[in-house]
Amino acid sequence: MASLFSTTYASLSYGGRGPAASKPPRRMVVVRAEAINPDIRKTEEKVVDSVLLPEISKPVTAYCRCWRSGTFPLCDGGHLKHNKATGDNVGPLLLKQK
Ligand code: FES
Repeated sequence: MASLFSTTYASLSYGGRGPAASKPPRRMVVVRAEAINPDIRKTEEKVVDSVLLPEISKPVTAYCRCWRSGTFPLCDGGHLKHNKATGDNVGPLLLKQK
């Protein structure tokens, strides 16, 4: 399978003259719109699993399983855009306080 992400640099003038010289290069992540879940529970709108744990500090923590989160490994809701663009049904893994 080909890489899901490719990274390119939008600014090549870092270190040069002008206003962009003092700014670090901005990274641009290009995400291809293709489903990453070919066959797991495809009858469900979104695949979300929960694990109940007795000893965790937060009531709920969502971990990303779509690889689209800007706060990876935590879910930031990026799966919603991915699912809409691809017809996929991925969702986070929830760790819940028991
Ligand atoms: S952003 Fe990846 S599962 Fe939510």
